[in-house]
Amino acid sequence: MDGSNTEVLSADAAGIARAAALLRAGALVSFPTETVYGLGADATNDTAVARIFEAKGRPRFNPLIVHLPDAARVRDIAVLEGDAARLADAFWPGPLTLVLPIRPGAALSPLVSAGLSTVAVRVPDQPLAHALLIAVDHPIAAPSANPSGRISPTEAAHVVAALGGRIEAVLDGGACAVGVESTIVGFDPVPTLLRPGGLPAEAIEACLGAKLAMLAPGDTVSAPGQLQSHYAPRAGLRLNATDLRPGERLLGFGPVEATLNLSPSGDLVEAAANLFHHLHRLDSEGDVPIAVSPIPETGLGRAINDRLRRAAAPRE
Ligand code: TXA
Ligand code: MG
Repeated sequence: MDGSNTEVLSADAAGIARAAALLRAGALVSFPTETVYGLGADATNDTAVARIFEAKGRPRFNPLIVHLPDAARVRDIAVLEGDAARLADAFWPGPLTLVLPIRPGAALSPLVSAGLSTVAVRVPDQPLAHALLIAVDHPIAAPSANPSGRISPTEAAHVVAALGGRIEAVLDGGACAVGVESTIVGFDPVPTLLRPGGLPAEAIEACLGAKLAMLAPGDTVSAPGQLQSHYAPRAGLRLNATDLRPGERLLGFGPVEATLNLSPSGDLVEAAANLFHHLHRLDSEGDVPIAVSPIPETGLGRAINDRLRRAAAPRE
């Protein structure tokens, strides 16, 4: 196994402290949960979250699950009430993820929710994960710690083999007990199974005293991120703009004179970190057409262009 540059941290106080310090400094640290190993980053740090997508080689910004040590911390960032609160009481900590409205003013990177107004949250049932989340004292975004399109890791060695050299550390907590990802439930407008997983749907239905709605065939849990114009500013977007037409504002990339620049130095991680912030800023400044500089179709540039194409697509 080739772990060059990736620290393997032991499941003790020193390992937890090191993992927490790295996460607080914006590093990527894989950690065990009861389901699978997560690829963790500080969910309040735009650059750290952008690096998750870079490390996984994800071609698009689908929203990520945010991990917290308990329901009280969940309430700092999300609105947890009604059916969602009942499920949280019954099944947290455990392999259940709830998609909830973001609490206004929560210090979450918009990349975590791919610009949506909801956030997926969960409280893992794994002592090391719990200790780490307490020590970091920030919400931690964590998809499964595998490269895009590969199977999810259930041991630290899987993580090192797949992502060694691309992430700062792995906290080694042995094998994961559940071995499949968490069950995801949304509430818009009724309790809906968005992804089957480690907590059986029957248990959730027994707690609610009602059947869960199911996604329509063909829908996937990442559907919100795949809607053509799911996050789009009101103003029209013109992509690959090499000139500026009268009345347009420029969302720049690289060394150009621009209204806002995703990365003057042409750094794709910086551009991803700025993407939703800049789109929201331009949107808040009114319905004035936006031209966007060309962005290379490599690395994170693919996910950035995917998102920009959706934002530029014709609206319903
Ligand atoms: O077991 C798990 O859940 C693992 C461990 C590491 O905790 N994590 C995991 O995370 O599977 P991730 O990021 O790979 O799963 C994210 C899923 C995606 O399919 C995404 O579309 C859905 O959750 N999701 C996230 N935020 C959402 C939102 N706001 N609305 C709808 N779906 C959302
Ligand atoms: Mg995954």
